[in-house]
Amino acid sequence: MARRMLIAGNWKMNGLRQSLGFLEEIRPAAHSRRNVDVLLAPPATLIVSAAEIAGPVKIGGQDCHIHPSGAHTGDISAEMLRDAGASYVIVGHSERRADHGESSELVRAKAEAAQAAGLVPMICVGESESDRREGKAEAVVGEQLHQSLPGSTAYVIAYEPVWAIGTGLTASLDDIAAMHAFIRSKLPDGATTQILYGGSVKPANAADILSLNDVDGALVGGASLKAADFGAIIEAAP
Ligand code: PGA
Repeated sequence: MARRMLIAGNWKMNGLRQSLGFLEEIRPAAHSRRNVDVLLAPPATLIVSAAEIAGPVKIGGQDCHIHPSGAHTGDISAEMLRDAGASYVIVGHSERRADHGESSELVRAKAEAAQAAGLVPMICVGESESDRREGKAEAVVGEQLHQSLPGSTAYVIAYEPVWAIGTGLTASLDDIAAMHAFIRSKLPDGATTQILYGGSVKPANAADILSLNDVDGALVGGASLKAADFGAIIEAAP
């Protein structure tokens, strides 16, 4: 079965209500690409409004708690995201692993909570610059997968080398191809699981990255803040 392409935008801590005109602007690109799924993960404050006007675009959260409800001030559960109109949630983004000390075990629990709530978790993995310099990239990513993956294979993987996120640096096409093949070989349902690449994806490099065999889409940060750029990345998908 051919894997569909998924182009996902991660707005991180950006976006106000007035930013949602974006969804209107990318609609023509999203509509014209029948074989490409388009996902936007806005900040949690915008999920309800975004879902109401999303049209063909799927809406996702950027994180979730491991419990469906309870005394966890400031947190948001997967069930709440689903109720707000999300169908996906990013878990284990490197910014959460770094800023909030999230372990792979916690990421796995979040992925399981997402699945239990009917969301597709997008599980992020990726090595640091020193890991890659020291030749440990595959070992680190392999360990993250081993510890982060839930038993049920209803998930999407995003490979994002930490040093490529928000830096304008992208991994070489050879390195992306090699890491995606490695990740696929480690997945219990490798033939059908979508593996996205993330890290400074932009209109200028999207076509090359997305044409690689084992790359099934992109997780886009900075370039997802501008409708013209995000639209161009959607158009660049093969
Ligand atoms: P970037 O972010 O595209 O700005 O590098 C990607 C991400 O963090 O998901």
